[in-house]
Amino acid sequence: MRRAVFVTATDTDIGKTMIASALVVGMRERGIRCGVMKPVQCAGNDALFLKRVSGAGDPLGIINPFSFRRPLSPHLAARLESRHISLKKILRCYEMLRERHDFLVVEGAGGLLVPLSGRMLVADMIKALDLDIVIVARAGLGTINHTLLTIEAAARRNIRIVGIVYNQSTRGPLTVCEEDNPVIIRKLSAIRTLGLVPFRKIQRGRVSVELLRDIAGRIDIDAIVGDSPAQRERARDVAGRNVQPIAPHRAMAAARRNAGAREE
Ligand SMILES: Nc1ncnc2c1ncn2[C@@H]1O[C@H](COP(=O)(O)OP(=O)(O)OP(=O)(O)O)[C@@H](O)[C@H]1O
Ligand SMILES: [Mg+2]
Repeated sequence: MRRAVFVTATDTDIGKTMIASALVVGMRERGIRCGVMKPVQCAGNDALFLKRVSGAGDPLGIINPFSFRRPLSPHLAARLESRHISLKKILRCYEMLRERHDFLVVEGAGGLLVPLSGRMLVADMIKALDLDIVIVARAGLGTINHTLLTIEAAARRNIRIVGIVYNQSTRGPLTVCEEDNPVIIRKLSAIRTLGLVPFRKIQRGRVSVELLRDIAGRIDIDAIVGDSPAQRERARDVAGRNVQPIAPHRAMAAARRNAGAREE
């Protein structure tokens, strides 16, 4: 069983907070005491929202050790406040939270290759935390390229991908492209689809628990919690053997094999 997962996305504003919150609700419904973390936040109130949804009593400063005022890339938001993001501090907060909960949902900032400083990317933070990732991707046009790029970036760093949640960003029935995107991405990468979440009307910006429960019901949360240690070890071995030469075309093949190994 996993103890934590990192929710990343193919871009900013794709639905990480929405999906992370739904995961928390889904975990709680399974009797899993779930905590949250948003290590780095640039404007907005993701950390507070996640804390409220989880009902966790953890101090906001532990859930969100780095908060910046401006809606910018973290490296720039931090620089403009003459601060720097310390991985050590993030790791300390993470360990504290992990001790207090059965499971931890960690939300990233932007996507995998967003810089936290001139030397550190979100992907480096994920490696330091040793977390598997759930990728939130836009359901519609443009997502194939963004999602495959994200998969490649993860694979060449040996970051394990649990699967992809597709989030619809416009209202209405699924288009032909929204229906086909998970199929073609799965074919090309072998990364499993964890869910396809429809666009939901949100009244006056209020996201209700009922809405999150509905979204949670559309995501394969058992797969996120459940891979056995043996499957994980095999996935780690396969990824380790195949991805190290860092050739992008091989990285995709490695991601494919990695996913295959996990799903056996
Ligand atoms: N399925 C959905 N139906 C309707 N609205 C949605 C859905 N998913 C997300 N949204 C809305 O889209 C916006 C962006 O979603 P969200 O804040 O979850 O993205 P994010 O990836 O966490 O963004 P950031 O990079 O700023 O953290 C929010 O206003 C959210 O309420
Ligand atoms: Mg967010």
